[in-house]
Parts: sequence; structure tokens; C-alpha cells
Amino acid sequence: MDKDRVVEIGTDVRKYKNYNVYYQDPISGRFILYKPKGADVDEIRIDQEKVPKKLYVSLNDQLDFVSSRHEEYNRRLKSILKTSPRESKEVLTQVLDLGLTVPLGEVVHHMRDTIDIVVKEFLEDEDIVRKMAEVTVKDLSTSVHSVNVMLYCLGYARQSGHGYDDLKSFGLMGLFHDVGKLNIPDRILKAPRRLSMEEFDLIKAHPNHGYNILVQTKVEKRVRIGALQHHERCDGSGYPKNLKAEELLPESKALAIIDVFEALTNWRSYKDPVNSVTALDIIKEDVEKGKLDKRMFAVFANSLVGSKA
Ligand SMILES: [Fe+2]
Repeated sequence: MDKDRVVEIGTDVRKYKNYNVYYQDPISGRFILYKPKGADVDEIRIDQEKVPKKLYVSLNDQLDFVSSRHEEYNRRLKSILKTSPRESKEVLTQVLDLGLTVPLGEVVHHMRDTIDIVVKEFLEDEDIVRKMAEVTVKDLSTSVHSVNVMLYCLGYARQSGHGYDDLKSFGLMGLFHDVGKLNIPDRILKAPRRLSMEEFDLIKAHPNHGYNILVQTKVEKRVRIGALQHHERCDGSGYPKNLKAEELLPESKALAIIDVFEALTNWRSYKDPVNSVTALDIIKEDVEKGKLDKRMFAVFANSLVGSKA
């Protein structure tokens, strides 16, 4: 088994009953069959934690696994979206986590299906997205942040009068804006302390990483550009390219506001959340300094309360 053709799987090997599962021999570095397709892993072994810490399947098997699980998640989402915002949000996070275990180009179409389910329901009942956004979870993962940003993006796009196709793009943009963080180690992303200059420089590379990952997919241009530009600021003080307002896509400017709002209103490893009103006050200061777009800020603030003003 070639190293480039295997994918590390999570701890729940039971889900992989229908696949060959491998472990890596620490001495030779080779991938050796741990359990053949169709075989269960003994429950006692799992209880006693005798299963190797890291297990792998072939990339093709993982793609198959992701596809079938994704369809399952989408079916589940359809059935609970109207009634269970918390659970729906959990499913969305699982969809994203799962999709990111394989090259993104292979799963963008599944992600579109998921967004499609949300957008269709949202167009019928705007409260669906608002209620999901209001569910808070103390989870520092990029996936939870991205799902939140996706929900706010939908609210923003609707508030600005966009229709079905644009809503889907905005949703994908939210979901994938931080995908470049896949290339940054967790010990830096989740460090509960002030980062060193070198560490911060590594983090500042994530918009470029994200753009490069998304270029390999068939995702639309504004989704790729959103990933690249969401840390730019209208006055040129952002990163990675110090672009100014007129060089930025409107979607990127909206995404920048939403990204900051989500970061302020949710837990981070180094801080507790602030409430929405305080977050909007903080963002307003940056609007007044010319860093964030004034009109888009007003649209976003209205989208949070569902005001048509
Ligand atoms: Fe980011």
C-alpha cells in the first residue's frame, strides 16, 4: 500500500466494517492489513483500547465511505432541518469534517447538495438558519466556525436580496473560507496563549493555502477568492496582500465582517465569547476606522435580527 494512497481514519473503526483497514509498521513504515473488508473488530479489543492509535484505509475506499456517509447525512439533514436546529448544526459540522478527509475536489458536489438542502428550506423559512446560528457549542474547531460563518453568509446574502444561486455560492464561501487551516498544525491553531511572530506568520498563510486548495476543485471563482481575501481590510491593513477596498470582491468584504463577528461571538482557546451587541459595537469601531465596509456592516447587522430595513 502506497503512503500517498492511504488516508488516516478516526478512532471509530466500527464504521469501517466494509473496508480493508491498515496500520503502519513503526519499523519498516509499511502499511500492513489490520482487518480485512467485512470483518468486525472485536468489541473487547475496542473496549480495552487494543486497537492501534492510527488506522488507515485506501484513498479510494475513503472516497466511497465519504460518499455513502454524505448521502446519509444529507437525508438526515432533510428530515430534521425544520425541527432540530442543534442537531442540524451538528450534522453540518460532521459533513464538513468528513469532506475534509479527502481531496476537496472530490466532495465539492456533495457539499453543494448539503448547501442546497439548507438554502431550499431557508428560502421557505428564514428562521431555520437563524435558529441554527443561535445554537452555541463550546467547540474550537475550524469546522464549527465555518458552519457558523456559512449560516451568517446565507442570512447576509438573503438580506442583500440575493436569490437561490447566489445563496448557494455564499454558503460554500462560508463553509470553505478557512479551508487553508488544514495546512496549519493544531498546536498553533488552538494555542491558548499569545502566538510568536513566527507562529502568526504561519497562520497568516492560510488564505493562500485555502486558495491553492480550492483552485484544484471545480468551485466557483468567488468562493476561491473569498478564501484568499477574507482577512484583507478596506484600508489595506489586512493580509496576505494588503489589498484595498476597490481591489476586493464585494463578497470578500462581507465575509471579512462575518468572520470577525463569528470569532467574537464564539469561544476561542484564548477567550470567552461576547454577546452579539458587543460584537457589533467592536466591529463598528473597525468600520469607522475604514477597515470594514459600512454598508455591508449595516446589511449584516440587519440580517441578524431579520429586519428588512
Ligand atoms: Fe481565516
